[in-house]
Amino acid sequence: MPTIQVSTEEMTKQLHFTREIRNWNEAYTATTGRVRTACVRTFGCQMNEHDSEKLSGMLTQMGFLMVPEYSVNEEPKIADLILFNTCCVRENAEEKVYGHLGALKGAKRIKPTMITGVCGCMTEQPHAVEEIRRVYKNVDLVFGTRAAHKLPEYLHQVIFDNKRVLEVSKTEGEVAEGVPVERADDLKAWVTIMYGCNNFCSYCIVPYVRGRERSRKATDILAEVRGLVENGIQEITLLGQNVNSYGKDLEDNDGITDFADLLDLLCRETEIPRIRFMTSHPKDLSDRLIAAIARNKSVCNQLHLPVQSGSSRVLKEMNRKYTREEYLDLVARIRKAVPEITLSTDIIVGFPGETEADFEQTLSLVEQVRYDSAYTFIYSKRVGTPAATREDQVPEDVVKARFDRLLALQNSIGREINDGLVGRTLEVLCEGPSRTNEDRMTGRTEGNKIVNFIGGDGNLRGKMVRVHIDHAQTWSLEGTAEL
Ligand code: SAH
Ligand code: SF4
Ligand code: F3S
Repeated sequence: MPTIQVSTEEMTKQLHFTREIRNWNEAYTATTGRVRTACVRTFGCQMNEHDSEKLSGMLTQMGFLMVPEYSVNEEPKIADLILFNTCCVRENAEEKVYGHLGALKGAKRIKPTMITGVCGCMTEQPHAVEEIRRVYKNVDLVFGTRAAHKLPEYLHQVIFDNKRVLEVSKTEGEVAEGVPVERADDLKAWVTIMYGCNNFCSYCIVPYVRGRERSRKATDILAEVRGLVENGIQEITLLGQNVNSYGKDLEDNDGITDFADLLDLLCRETEIPRIRFMTSHPKDLSDRLIAAIARNKSVCNQLHLPVQSGSSRVLKEMNRKYTREEYLDLVARIRKAVPEITLSTDIIVGFPGETEADFEQTLSLVEQVRYDSAYTFIYSKRVGTPAATREDQVPEDVVKARFDRLLALQNSIGREINDGLVGRTLEVLCEGPSRTNEDRMTGRTEGNKIVNFIGGDGNLRGKMVRVHIDHAQTWSLEGTAEL
């Protein structure tokens, strides 16, 4: 099915609701001298974070003043609108949301006019919407990721019709262009290139909540990146659940056939200094893409390549569509083409039926690949996924012990790799003073390693700085600027 774009009429309709809410907010300010505040709180991944920037963009256009935090018990600091942008990839992500929603019940008693909304991945699940309807009566507004561009319309119903709006998405998803974005950073920016996922890994809820794969048109992506460069953005991260299948759903994409073409286009047509992207599914990582990473200087020598397990048997049951050997071969090809590449991964421990022997295969793969970093997760049952109904769930204590062993191994490898960088000089995009120590600057290397450094005139934010690495830690490097 070709990807459908949200129509211009639909977006114009949303602008109409936006204007009415804006008038409502301006009238309030005229009579009270106060500006209504709104807070969007993000619970999920980078994609979710970027969605929050769009939600904030729409709310700003509606005349709300965005605030970074809210109080649940001090009346003046309870935001007029609180919107939770949720995640459901693991159980603890959902539990966190329910905890915070419970805490907001008291806030609503103190300030009955406040509006509480929940959106994102969690609320793409009918059972979660039902739970909120029943238990969290303080919630006024619910909608899922696929309907996020309709926030103005839903909010309009809550405000002017005094309705409780609890939407369950009805489409597999479309692509909405032209949604305003309120970016959290002026140096680095997220750019979504595709939505959804078609892979249905047997443990994963994402394809159910994000819908089918939909790519944005290359011309729209290029226009966005050009705009970002004009505004001083130094680094972009292209986002998609599986960027390697970019463009496959588009019938006419102005000659851009795949993700490698898109990288070439952005490097050729813009002056963006750094491009990162995530996530790459190993089954679709082509030699064309490897060549594009090697060829384009702006494409960072860094790759996030989730392996999930080192056991071919488990990988098959996960529906990952590659074996341990194929993955290792891929890593070898990447390293041959781009020797300096830093690699990171995602690993799940305790997938149903995982034996000690399977787990040891994961450990040995980690030793063989030597990742710079790894995100390790304890398997979490997700309602509606095939793995959740399996009888052979691994006992909690066994999973925890394996998880700790994996973490210890990865930490020691990460530390060794970082130790190997001591004495080198690396180029760092400076992000300004370190949050923990104002006397030091912080930034990242092309390989995405955090470097805290001394030296410089304190005005290095946004500059590429050559930093001599003096010392290594497990998660970061320390150095001195060479000016
Ligand atoms: N599309 C990306 C990642 C999506 S979710 C990819 O395919 O790599 C991010 C990570 O969460 C996954 O890579 C996986 O390691 C983890 N994850 C997904 N579902 C999970 C589950 N049910 N339990 C534990 N971890 C999970
Ligand atoms: Fe989930 Fe697999 Fe899709 Fe990644 S590729 S989002 S792990 S189903
Ligand atoms: Fe991201 Fe969580 Fe949704 S990981 S895609 S916010 S389920």
